[in-house]
Amino acid sequence: MAGAPPALEVDSVTKAFFHRRRETLVLDHVSLKVEPQEFVSIVGPSGCGKSTLFHIIGGLEQPDAGTISMNGKPVTGQRGEISYMPQQPALFPWRTIEDNVLLAGELKGKPRAEARAAARHWLDKVGLGGFERAYPHMLSGGMQQRAAFLRALLAPQELMLLDEPFSALDALTRSEMQRWLLELWEENRRSVLFITHNIEEALLLSSRIYVFSGRPGSVLHTVDVPFPRPRREEITESPEFLKLKRQLSQWMREEQAKAAK
Ligand SMILES: Nc1ncnc2c1ncn2[C@@H]1O[C@H](COP(=O)(O)OP(=O)(O)OP(=O)(O)O)[C@@H](O)[C@H]1O
Ligand SMILES: [Mg+2]
Repeated sequence: MAGAPPALEVDSVTKAFFHRRRETLVLDHVSLKVEPQEFVSIVGPSGCGKSTLFHIIGGLEQPDAGTISMNGKPVTGQRGEISYMPQQPALFPWRTIEDNVLLAGELKGKPRAEARAAARHWLDKVGLGGFERAYPHMLSGGMQQRAAFLRALLAPQELMLLDEPFSALDALTRSEMQRWLLELWEENRRSVLFITHNIEEALLLSSRIYVFSGRPGSVLHTVDVPFPRPRREEITESPEFLKLKRQLSQWMREEQAKAAK
């Protein structure tokens, strides 16, 4: 959409936490953008404030300074504007997997039978067919992650925040989920802000990557990912992909080395 305001604009967000009278600066003047229907990733060392930034965007935490806008409207501190998959999958333990997925807003307004059929269709797609009636504690960490991911995907908000959605998955399932997410997103574009430690995943999925410094997190580098869409996994073997991967890995190693000092 030409001229439309960004789906998300984070402007100069700063945040410190106090613990036992000590102040820790976690985010230092972070600015970033997600254009409508754009897939954007954040990579950065552990503890640099990525999840905290999501809490601020989702209105669960207040920034000390800076603002959040969505579609040109200030929403700093407001809840309910985003679809959010937290780093720890938050499924309701007393509800079955199917009932957890049925909580997703998109299914809420539908007649019951239709919503159930849709939930089953999606559960099958993420490899959870047969587990509709199971409770979350009966599933592995990776399966819980997939159910939580599905709930975020089916939520009605246009902007989706995904905090390391595939971190608990084994390499094979992870690569299947990446392929699936890529196809799904290319078919049905949402605005996505995605946190990952996996550089290859970020390069495969994103149009832009923000590389964060170690704590306090700030944007060190902004990388525009040039590969045309639709993208397929084969691009991960192209020289340009490998070059970008090396560059990003080097930046990450440098930040990790600084943090270790
Ligand atoms: N509610 C809180 N109170 C105090 N400190 C907090 C709180 N939430 C986060 N922190 C601190 O803020 C820093 C950043 O945490 P955050 O979870 O945002 O990091 P992260 O970049 O998501 O790390 P990871 O990659 O390991 O998930 C950490 O030092 C953490 O201890
Ligand atoms: Mg985190």
